[in-house]
Amino acid sequence: MSAIHIGQPIARVDGREKVTGTARYAADFDQPGQAYAVIVGASVGRGRVLEIDDGAARQLQGVLTILTYRNAPRLAYAPHKGFIDPAGGERLHVLQDDVVRFYGQPIALVVAQSQAQAELAAALVRVRYAAQGPVCDPLDPRAEAVVPQALREPGPHAADRQRGEAMAALAEAAVKVDVAFDTARENHYPIEPNATIAAWNGDRLTLWSKSQFVVNEQAEIAAIFGIPVDHVRVVCPFVGGAFGTSLRTWPHVTLAAVAAREVDRPVKLVLARRQMFHLTGHRPRTLQRIALGATAQGRLTAIVHEGSGETSRHEEYVEALTSATSYLYSCPNVQTRYRVVPLDTGTPTFMRGPGEATGLFALECAMDELACALGMDPLALRRINEPQVDEGRQLPFSSRSMLACYERGAQAFGWSRRSHPPGSMRDGRMQIGWGMAAATYPVFHAQASARVRLLADGTAEVETAASDMGPGTYTSMTQIAAQTLGLSLASVRLRLGASDFPPTPPHGGSMTLASVGSAVRNACLAALDQRRAGSSGAQAIEAVATAGPDAALHQRFSMHAFGAVFVEVAVDPDVGTIRVRRVVGAYAAGRIVNPRLAASQCSGGMVGGIGMALMERTALDPRDGRPVNAHMADYLVPVNLDIPMLEVHFVDEVDPHVNDLGVKGLGEIALVGVAPAVANAVYHATGKRVRELPIRIEHMIETGP
Ligand code: MOS
Repeated sequence: MSAIHIGQPIARVDGREKVTGTARYAADFDQPGQAYAVIVGASVGRGRVLEIDDGAARQLQGVLTILTYRNAPRLAYAPHKGFIDPAGGERLHVLQDDVVRFYGQPIALVVAQSQAQAELAAALVRVRYAAQGPVCDPLDPRAEAVVPQALREPGPHAADRQRGEAMAALAEAAVKVDVAFDTARENHYPIEPNATIAAWNGDRLTLWSKSQFVVNEQAEIAAIFGIPVDHVRVVCPFVGGAFGTSLRTWPHVTLAAVAAREVDRPVKLVLARRQMFHLTGHRPRTLQRIALGATAQGRLTAIVHEGSGETSRHEEYVEALTSATSYLYSCPNVQTRYRVVPLDTGTPTFMRGPGEATGLFALECAMDELACALGMDPLALRRINEPQVDEGRQLPFSSRSMLACYERGAQAFGWSRRSHPPGSMRDGRMQIGWGMAAATYPVFHAQASARVRLLADGTAEVETAASDMGPGTYTSMTQIAAQTLGLSLASVRLRLGASDFPPTPPHGGSMTLASVGSAVRNACLAALDQRRAGSSGAQAIEAVATAGPDAALHQRFSMHAFGAVFVEVAVDPDVGTIRVRRVVGAYAAGRIVNPRLAASQCSGGMVGGIGMALMERTALDPRDGRPVNAHMADYLVPVNLDIPMLEVHFVDEVDPHVNDLGVKGLGEIALVGVAPAVANAVYHATGKRVRELPIRIEHMIETGP
């Protein structure tokens, strides 16, 4: 009998490489004779470039060239929309015109023999602008919320959706809440900076580039340069965290390739930390309203959810802000409305739990407010509104273990010992609060491919283009391959993160395990078939296979992961500091391939959720749209001392419909639900209802009249 690997808490197969520093990230692939490029960003938020004086910069030793819209090559920018690119609008054409669309937009590129020379020269480039005041705040009277072009079609993702008569039901409801929320713009803040090393060999280009989607980067760069896709190769074996910030191919990748062609040698371009705040996307700020109506017994009769998120003026970024509202609870009358607000800013992008994290902040805080209005336990309120089917799409769930998550999480947390009145729990001077929230995220599954080689020595090699940004893709794919092939883990070698490996969807949207895992499994099965059919045992066998979602099943079933998050906070009533003391999350996400790494993944999501709840906010200077806290000191993220015991539980769930592996994905749901649970705990501790993120000391301290 071959060993069981799926379901085992295997340590990371790439752990040794990571801790010994032999794992190579994009910026580690230094090339012989490479030059260094530094981006000069616009210092105004909107306007035109009138004059660029690079005379002093050009005089500096080591400077090879300085590119601006005046002398940069015209690029093809052939139409190309990847899976993750906004459906509406057009990507920034970098250094192709004199228009400044947002603060920090690349205006010039300095290429020099060393990084220090390039930085020094970049600081000497003088630019004169015709500047206008940018509109970079959705509350600015000049800002306008518009219906997203991409979501005009009716259907489950339409901008406007309705079942029943929500407004009428709300008017008649025995108990109601009607509240508004404001969630902050955030940046992804991975440890690894975005970086690209570009090298041309004739008309062929190699990019060692931080990417969650190497095959899209390949296609996008080929389209931008107007060259065949197979002339571009993208390599990215390791990613030092990304959370969505490296799904798209941002302009710095193009610039590295342009520079390499211009100076005819490899060029390395590493973004400075501050540049990552405006050049690689952000989580959009949202403004939302939730109105809930219920019977006196707590049955929901009306849900109204209206919200808007930022986008840029040149592209229309949309996310699933109101989607979960249609299926999370049973309610006959539900109305949702989603808008985007074009601003003079870089385009936002997916950031862990994109849409759900902010949308459920509003919904789950409003549910807590409704529970208070009803005088009910917030967990009991959720239990009695648990739906039997997805009432938005009128479809059965492929599986939905939400009640089990409530049960498991509540028990582990000790929820039954909660004293319900706000401000009724204390620990010495500290005000203690217990809050909870539901979490959910869709099961995404897209077509993926993998190659398996069975070698004569009895070992196997697996190749697939997917990246591993940290969840443990090397490990989970090794488990799947080893188990399918009947080999030991040590006999399987995974190769990831190169565009010449069989193509995969974005390493995002929590779809890698379902999509790439299914492809790896199919490729292993195909290789075994070949071996059974073949006669020669000594020759290597190679099989490539593709796996994709079963469209019919996705039409028949509503497929989502579910979870419940419980949080304890302590608020110091004198100085207003908020400490998270405990987080317990219970998740039902189908089969858990590796409980150890899955728990690690969820802990990471909880940390992100605590950051979202209490710390993270990218603040813009209204005069020029400049992120004012674009550095490690002022963009606050949790550090070890901010993080308490994190407890992750997985509810056993067998889902026969989602995919052959039975996995739903964990990356996004791990963050969803944490911020509202924290906010609800803060309310329970203090009686202060904060409907704005992040929740800060100033929200806790009474200000005098
Ligand atoms: Mo995640 S936002 O899909 O990288």
